[in-house]
Amino acid sequence: MKDIKNKVVMVTGAGANIGREIALAFARTGAAVILCDYKEENARAVKAEIEAMGGEAMLAVCDVRDREKIFAYVEEAIGRFGRIDVLVNNAGGSAGLLGKLTRFVDAEPETLDFVIDTNLKGAMHCAQAVLPSMIKNEYGKIINISSIAALVGLFDRVDYAAAKAAMIGMAKALAMEVGQYNICVNCISPGAIWREGCAPFEHMTYMGKNGHGGQPKDIADAVLFLAEQDYITGENLVVDGGRTLGPSHI
Ligand SMILES: NC(=O)c1ccc[n+]([C@@H]2O[C@H](COP(=O)([O-])OP(=O)(O)OC[C@H]3O[C@@H](n4cnc5c(N)ncnc54)[C@H](O)[C@@H]3O)[C@@H](O)[C@H]2O)c1
Repeated sequence: MKDIKNKVVMVTGAGANIGREIALAFARTGAAVILCDYKEENARAVKAEIEAMGGEAMLAVCDVRDREKIFAYVEEAIGRFGRIDVLVNNAGGSAGLLGKLTRFVDAEPETLDFVIDTNLKGAMHCAQAVLPSMIKNEYGKIINISSIAALVGLFDRVDYAAAKAAMIGMAKALAMEVGQYNICVNCISPGAIWREGCAPFEHMTYMGKNGHGGQPKDIADAVLFLAEQDYITGENLVVDGGRTLGPSHI
């Protein structure tokens, strides 16, 4: 296992669920964490959790679609911490965030823009913002949180499946360009991850029967694993309890 202590890590969507768990997991290793989320209250709560454990965190309250603010926060973070070592592009979601899940044939163009901008372009803005620092330091890890929707599709979420698939393409092509600077770019594709209020969905995996399916910690563990690797790049790690395996019997 490589040493990832005392890194500077930026996590988008860090105020809730998977992003919060990723931010806390890095903080436990001694990393300084830049918490990017447009919900200030949630990001502040995670900052308080990190500080309560003796860690260091910086707030970056903005929408990942807001390129100018992302660049400004990255500049502020580099001014404060000297560099950014790891970027986790976790902020994202489907048209469900707007209450607009629908068959593709009926999807409004504004909704398509929202889903593609939030998932794909947000990740691109953040990557472009941190890359000059990573290239200068000849060190970096960029980890995109995609989805198994990218691999097997998902009803009423054609835009989301397409944006998440594009995040995998982005990681592969970018990995080629920046490998020479010791920067690894990878993806993680979660299956259904349980959150407070979710109905049980153990039927969605081949693993266990606790009714909770995957947990945010399962994704945080995978992110930390990739953050520790220096020779894995352009990969997509599926963390879905076997959900995307075929049927168990023919
Ligand atoms: N939960 C799952 O089952 C699951 C499965 C596959 C993939 N994913 C992906 O994992 C990531 C995290 O999912 P989650 O379930 O934790 O989501 P969530 O909705 O519970 O939390 C997302 C966090 O990101 C923030 N956020 C959303 N859009 C943002 C934006 N444009 N700019 C800044 N912050 C923003 C929200 O405020 C929230 O704090 C998403 O990219 C999602 O698509 C989740």
